[in-house]
Amino acid sequence: MFQPAKRCKLIQLSEIRKMFELVAEDAINLSLGEPDFDTPLNIREAVKVALDSGFTHYTPNKGIIELREAISCKLEDENKINADPESIIVTVGASEALHISIQALINSGDEVLIPDPGFISYDPCVKLAEGKIVPLELHEENEFRMTADDVIDTITDKTKAIILNSPANPTGSVMQKEDIKGIAEIAEDNNIYLISDEIYEKIIYEGKHYSPGRYTDNAITINGFSKTYAMTGFRIGYVAAKPELIEEMLKVHQYNAACASSLSQIAGLEALTGPQECVGEMLNEFKRRRDLVVKRLNQMEITFKAPEGAFYVFPKVENSMEFVNKAINKGVIIVNGAGFGKCGEGHFRISYAASYEKLTEAMDRLDSINI
Ligand SMILES: Cc1ncc(COP(=O)(O)O)c(C=O)c1O
Repeated sequence: MFQPAKRCKLIQLSEIRKMFELVAEDAINLSLGEPDFDTPLNIREAVKVALDSGFTHYTPNKGIIELREAISCKLEDENKINADPESIIVTVGASEALHISIQALINSGDEVLIPDPGFISYDPCVKLAEGKIVPLELHEENEFRMTADDVIDTITDKTKAIILNSPANPTGSVMQKEDIKGIAEIAEDNNIYLISDEIYEKIIYEGKHYSPGRYTDNAITINGFSKTYAMTGFRIGYVAAKPELIEEMLKVHQYNAACASSLSQIAGLEALTGPQECVGEMLNEFKRRRDLVVKRLNQMEITFKAPEGAFYVFPKVENSMEFVNKAINKGVIIVNGAGFGKCGEGHFRISYAASYEKLTEAMDRLDSINI
């Protein structure tokens, strides 16, 4: 009889993907974290040129130097992080960056604080490394923000790392500067690493993004191109950390992916160094959609916190599973909050990365549900 490795039995396939596969063709899918925009033309053109010129071979394991230099400048200019190109690995999406960071850091039994509710990959990534998950409970009363006080109350002498995600999936909350700074100090004082997932950095409506990496060398900064530049299918991201950590991550990356796709690296290079108007245009459209969803949820008298960033809203209903099932019956796919952790129970997540027209129709359908 087939016996899979025990580590695979510790984790399950994503509920979100499973739901996606169930849906009828005419259903409106508000379950995926994927911008519906086309990748900007200049990026696609740069890839075509690279393809025609035969740029189809392996690249250095860490990624092409031009891209790492561009990332290094971006981190310095925008995030106030000092990371030279040798301290950066270009990865297969932020997803791989998360995986290699955790593989390089976590031993069996090490405690890792993860936001609850939080992005669905954190828990399985830590489990695959045999780490011990410690949920860091985020509460609606506090706008689902992670605070330095929450961290102080939750760390132990076994805490090896804390995962931060601001702006956050699934809540859209944005952490405040003093908390980022405070958590960076806690990390320094207690020899804890901060794995900072900054994939929604540019999708921010209120507040400002601060990277823990500007305050501590214990930060591992993870970012990517999927959300900011509508490049999910390119599978390209990056991680920056202090050199000794990067060398360990590189081993995992080398024997796992070897390098990110050469063409996707060209796409990433063009994204960072080409015109940036597309970023503002997409942000404006996300904001228009957010305002629509906020207005409609208010009219429906559903309790929720208006998102300050990312493209999710995380409302509360009495029986969220029942609500999600009723929504599916009406042809709107949304996700039950429990999938994001215990503190997500009683909530559901709407991704408003779909078109304004689809969102309008979806909100009409949700409005017709009896709750
Ligand atoms: C918080 C968060 N981190 C990371 C990722 C993965 O991004 P990528 O497409 O770069 O692997 C996602 C995707 O939904 C996300 O929501």
